[in-house]
Amino acid sequence: MTPVRVTVPASSANLGPGFDTLGMALDLPFVLSSEPDDELLTMDSGHPARRAFTEAGGEGPLWWRSPIPPGRGLGFSGAARVAGAFMGYCMAGLDDSSARDSAFELAGRLEGHWDNAAASTFGGIMAAIPGRAVRVPIALDLQVVVWWPNSETSTNRSRATLRESVPLADCVHNIGHVAVLVAALASGDIDALRAATSDQLHQDARLALAPSSRAALEVLDESGPIAAWLSGSGPTVAAFARRGDGERLLSCLPHGGGARVLEIDSRGAVVVNR
Ligand code: HSE
Repeated sequence: MTPVRVTVPASSANLGPGFDTLGMALDLPFVLSSEPDDELLTMDSGHPARRAFTEAGGEGPLWWRSPIPPGRGLGFSGAARVAGAFMGYCMAGLDDSSARDSAFELAGRLEGHWDNAAASTFGGIMAAIPGRAVRVPIALDLQVVVWWPNSETSTNRSRATLRESVPLADCVHNIGHVAVLVAALASGDIDALRAATSDQLHQDARLALAPSSRAALEVLDESGPIAAWLSGSGPTVAAFARRGDGERLLSCLPHGGGARVLEIDSRGAVVVNR
């Protein structure tokens, strides 16, 4: 069987108000290979990519590497599952497009977070519901600033802190903001984008568990006109930056942890050796 190497981007889910429905791909790769390489790690049987690979019909050992920090809200496990599933379907003979569609289905089901799975599979900014993902056009030249503290967040524990039911006004707040967010991205309205990442469903409860992330979000809000959010379940915070403004924003953020200026990945899951 021909060796296959795939690369899949990290993702930032929610973008503020799009709780469980918006995901954005970021150019931090998860690399998965069916051939050993000095720069790759041997994958153990418990790795999330392994189960996805097996369920997609893949067989044999795997090797991997990734700079995506796990447990930080940058979609490490989603990218791993997409990579495993995509690789399994590619090795089974599906063309890249069909393998991506099937990988989205499988990784979304295994991960349970269709927003992360959609972004890592297809790239760009995706609106997602279970089993379906639609690309959001981006009519702005944006980079993304991400900052994370040294602590990790468990998505399950973080979700357990969220309210089970919410007032209608909070729902309306998020529906309105997510609609404006998508329309602002598609139409290139940067002023509307700046107002659109406000959330009333999940961020406040999550930030109560991550005070340094709350402080970093406040710094971003004070650092100029910007749209910032808690990335996935955190503790990473992320913000859109106009191209060229990212380094200035980074310099405002607290020291310690990790910080990067990233590109929005537009490719999603790709085979890199064919
Ligand atoms: N939308 C999910 C959440 C993403 O916010 O819990 C988890 O990565």
